[in-house]
Amino acid sequence: RRTAAVIPAAGRGVRLGPGAPKALRALGGTPMLIHAVRAMAASRAVSLVVVVAPPDGAPQVKILLDEHALPERTDYLVVPGGETRQESVRLGVDALPEDITDVLVHDAARPLVPVETVDAVIEAVRDGAPAVVPALPLADTVKQVEPRGKGEPEPVVATPERALLRAVQTPQGFDRETLERAHRTVTAVGEGATDCAGMVERLGAPVVVVPGHEEAFKVTRPLDLVLAEAVLARRRA
Ligand code: CTP
Ligand code: MG
Repeated sequence: RRTAAVIPAAGRGVRLGPGAPKALRALGGTPMLIHAVRAMAASRAVSLVVVVAPPDGAPQVKILLDEHALPERTDYLVVPGGETRQESVRLGVDALPEDITDVLVHDAARPLVPVETVDAVIEAVRDGAPAVVPALPLADTVKQVEPRGKGEPEPVVATPERALLRAVQTPQGFDRETLERAHRTVTAVGEGATDCAGMVERLGAPVVVVPGHEEAFKVTRPLDLVLAEAVLARRRA
């Protein structure tokens, strides 16, 4: 089997605040995207990394990949992304060469995922699971609410049992055929999902969870950058 990693990196990073597209912002002096690429290429099972760049940023991303040291056993491709994460992932998957059988989809915004997590996901796919997601138990209790206007108190509708909930990370791993079918089907009915596995679930195909990792957290808001810098500093110490 041959595994490729698709890295959606085309988002603007609105929640992080004004500045360059999120994937291009520096973490420990190196663009977040480069950390994410290295995290995927760190796995010996990954033979190709496809970076889905901001729509007009593909040339800049190609230059970044050339400028930074990356493992030579891995091939690298850059394609321009789309309006939504889902569209960006589809554009990345469309660019995969024929010999790829297994696909990881990994957020550029999760630059610090350890290789052990990447390998665990790949192994579960190679063992026959069509879709695999790394995830962690929640620290906070979660409530379902009835959304109201900004600042207005929101009525609570339900409190799902916390022990049954998992916070999902990436890389998510897929049998290529399953991921392509999910994208074809969900795109055809004009629906969306916040993660790829959610699209596979709608097909009725099984999705399994393997243990995620605290350091696979997503850099979403400014405080996440503080944490990411601290994790990097600890690794370098
Ligand atoms: N992404 C993408 N194409 C889009 C939107 C998002 O490739 N049109 C990618 C982001 O670059 C990121 C990943 O999907 O690596 C997860 O999305 P998120 O954390 O929401 O990043 P952004 O959409 O950039 O952030 P925000 O929602 O705050 O604008
Ligand atoms: Mg987003």
